[in-house]
Amino acid sequence: MKLLEREKEIISNELQDIVDEYQSKPENLIPILQKVQDKLGYLPLPAMEKIAQALHIPAVDVFGPATFYNQFRLNPPGEHQVKVCMGTACYMAGGSIAMESFERRLNIKEGETSPDRKYSLERVACVGCCTMAPVVVVDDEVEGSVTPTRVDGIMLSFEASDGEKKQEQVEGPEKEQREELEKEEKSEPEKKEGE
Ligand code: FES
Repeated sequence: MKLLEREKEIISNELQDIVDEYQSKPENLIPILQKVQDKLGYLPLPAMEKIAQALHIPAVDVFGPATFYNQFRLNPPGEHQVKVCMGTACYMAGGSIAMESFERRLNIKEGETSPDRKYSLERVACVGCCTMAPVVVVDDEVEGSVTPTRVDGIMLSFEASDGEKKQEQVEGPEKEQREELEKEEKSEPEKKEGE
């Protein structure tokens, strides 16, 4: 995944300070990874390589814990985050079918983020709403009884709300310009009268 400019800056300017804060000790790797993830939202490969350099340890010793512990994410969180519950009740009720439907619709696999960073898809453990199984958490909203048809509905509502946002962005500057023009038109005759 391509790094954003902001992420590049953090990696080049702030990462060393974080490692220094922990006395550049390899035994502090986990808190260092946590802090870097807090800053970036995930652990991109160049950040892990830089941490390895700063700690004078092989890169594989950083990748190992970063991939082992669930708390670390290797992909950036999407603008829309889809979390499919794979706890026992949801799995039995068709959680994997919901997951496959999202994978197909989003064209990404579980644990991935779309290249435009619009969507991320991940599996989560029981979220405590087993009676609604299979459950999907979409941008912090819990959706129950998620069938492939419901997945289509969720995707359509994403597309509709994104379309509305785009429209607002387009209309914003145009509206301002229109209002300014209207103001000018109104003040124009007054000017002439005063002349
Ligand atoms: S197993 Fe999915 S909410 Fe409990």
